[in-house]
Amino acid sequence: MNVLILGSGGREHAMAWKISQSPRCKKLYIAPGNPGTALCGENVPLQLNDFPAIGKFAKDHAIDLVVVGPEEPLVKGMADYFSRDAALKNLLFVGPTAGGARLEGSKAFAKGFMRRHGIPTAAYRSFTRESVEQGKAFLQSMAAPYVLKADGLAAGKGVIICDSLNEAYETLDEMLCSELFGQASATVVIEEFLQGREVSVFIVTDGKSYVMLPAAKDYKRIGEEDTGPNTGGMGAVSPVPFADKKFMAKVEERIIRPTIGGLIKEGVAYCGFIFFGLMEVDGDPFVIEYNVRLGDPEAEAILPRISSDFLDLMEAAAKGALDKHRLIISLQHAATVVLASGGYPGNYETGFPLFNLEHTEGSQVFYAGVKREGGSLKTSGGRVLAITSLGGDTAKALKASYATARLVDFRGKYCRYDIGKDLLP
Ligand code: AMP
Ligand code: GLY
Repeated sequence: MNVLILGSGGREHAMAWKISQSPRCKKLYIAPGNPGTALCGENVPLQLNDFPAIGKFAKDHAIDLVVVGPEEPLVKGMADYFSRDAALKNLLFVGPTAGGARLEGSKAFAKGFMRRHGIPTAAYRSFTRESVEQGKAFLQSMAAPYVLKADGLAAGKGVIICDSLNEAYETLDEMLCSELFGQASATVVIEEFLQGREVSVFIVTDGKSYVMLPAAKDYKRIGEEDTGPNTGGMGAVSPVPFADKKFMAKVEERIIRPTIGGLIKEGVAYCGFIFFGLMEVDGDPFVIEYNVRLGDPEAEAILPRISSDFLDLMEAAAKGALDKHRLIISLQHAATVVLASGGYPGNYETGFPLFNLEHTEGSQVFYAGVKREGGSLKTSGGRVLAITSLGGDTAKALKASYATARLVDFRGKYCRYDIGKDLLP
């Protein structure tokens, strides 16, 4: 099979690494990819939102299967574009249509969907510029802290949690009236604050059946002990001890099955990943958000735990044959530590050479913000590398990842040293 993966981060490096291990993968292309994906296949300089160019590439290179990494091209209708083109519509495509991608593309849609299908989530209302005063009255009726979410995609920055009512009023004004996140905050969801533990749950679905991937815990804040601003994620571990059999049975019954049932009822054909960002509150799961992709860095922790052929899984999803697929998950534990540029998620410098990448035995290093300049690898983003190790338990996996994290170097290197610590016995 000839495969095209779309995206350029650590997640896509992990996907390319996994798919390239399949004996059935003939030619693997990644667009636009990064120097890590170039170790697994061939990078192609295509813009993710240039659907005609991607379609033409797929035709010219006899691509059999397309797997989309990030959400944006899906929200913008890449799957719809492929299904409208006579020469592309029979190609296997993993990623939902724009209708399905609204689960991530519009928080107001996602909340309405959960309400319609009785899926547990925080109580909420949505507001626009016209209803800003009602928004303030709603805030007043709630207790602190206040959770305000921009409706649309805001590069992971669209959620603001305010401790005081005044701060919440100001934030609401900024989002609705001063376009804090542009069009993305033309509608704002205000919701109840849920106190609990977060866990990322992933499925692959063909719209009828689904396969559960391993769950992971992500560490979102920049600082140790979950302090400081939110990032894309500073590390991840899988499995997650509190996401045990009993909890996951509730997740399937109350969340996963009603989500797939809801999509069917609403006539939304959905083929791809669903990432349920969940909060465990006193043993019960609530949906914080849906995403229509794998998480990053969660993908770097969960894909190495899949022992069966990941290309077979993608093919089964695209063919609507997931009911016959058997996924095998390793009993090994995975720990992923992200090395970031000093200053991230605020301002940071890039262009610094990477050292000791050849001394990473015992870990798999996935490239995120890395570029090749001349003959050498340099930093090019906030999150630079995601280092994953497997071990018989989480402590062993963490030990191996931190050993590699200490060796690999670049100017300004920053990482959290407490990834997974809260989950150790
Ligand atoms: P999101 O971008 O939706 O993942 O939100 C970013 C982060 O905000 C989440 O990972 C949670 O830590 C936090 N968050 C979002 N919604 C809530 C909520 N209703 N209650 C508590 N924390 C929340
Ligand atoms: N790590 C969280 C995300 O990918 O959204």
